[in-house]
Amino acid sequence: MTVDSKHLINWVGGKRLLRKTIAPLIPENIQTYIEPFGGAGWVLFYKDKWADVEIYNDLDGRLVNLFRIVKYHPNALKEELSYLLGSREMFMQFMNSNPITDVQKAAKFFFLITRSFGGKGSTFGCVKKSAGGACKSLSNTLIKIDAIHKRLDKVLIEHRDFEKLIAQYDHEGAFFYCDPPYSTGCGYEVTSTEDFEHERLRDILSNIKGRFLLSYDDSPKIRELYKGFDMIEVQRQKGINNRQGITNNIYKELLIANYPIKNV
Ligand SMILES: C[S@@+](CC[C@H](N)C(=O)[O-])C[C@H]1O[C@@H](n2cnc3c(N)ncnc32)[C@H](O)[C@@H]1O
Repeated sequence: MTVDSKHLINWVGGKRLLRKTIAPLIPENIQTYIEPFGGAGWVLFYKDKWADVEIYNDLDGRLVNLFRIVKYHPNALKEELSYLLGSREMFMQFMNSNPITDVQKAAKFFFLITRSFGGKGSTFGCVKKSAGGACKSLSNTLIKIDAIHKRLDKVLIEHRDFEKLIAQYDHEGAFFYCDPPYSTGCGYEVTSTEDFEHERLRDILSNIKGRFLLSYDDSPKIRELYKGFDMIEVQRQKGINNRQGITNNIYKELLIANYPIKNV
């Protein structure tokens, strides 16, 4: 079995199923590649390098801490994780623990995310068929940490609200792959579905010097907000149902850009 070492964790809204559709739409001639809504970084990690300067950002400090620890202290994290078993007792103990160091915090977050149902970190992932959740291989996990450690070598890791981040890195050669929370659906630790300001993002992206590619749910609100921009419809199967072989559960998404993507 080969280990898919191009990702570390699953994340709600992660672009695992769309990364191969998104990648060919990203221009070749970019100087700076920026992900303001980094999440699990499925698109960032899909390729070994998108540009000479690459930036991962997320407002969720738990993700940022995890990737910083993987970048700077992978061995300490691996050691911390090597003592852990995928047991329900350990999961419950960990849920209620209070880690002190950043390495311990990263290990707790990583453990809960990888051993929980749907990667949400709240319910123990006791699966009957696939090799996820509680039965995840520890040695594969350690291989993935090494691979992502290497991939992050030259990636800058930021922890800012998207508005400040975009303003900070915008220039003619900049490319922003933006994957904000959907206009419908579940929210995140840092912003609930109701609180996320989609209009604020649209206003900022409408005035940047660089290029952007945006992925969103296909809803009338988003179509109206980005009227006039290049837009293509894509479909994917819903993640969990896809794994269970249910084929009629299609989710529609939009890819929107301020450069031509329709004929790519
Ligand atoms: C759809 S997910 C990104 C998924 C990612 N593309 C992947 O493949 O895993 C959206 C992310 O936006 C982050 N987020 C929410 N509000 C934010 C804000 N105001 N600024 C920056 N990041 C934010 C959330 O923490 C979440 O990780």
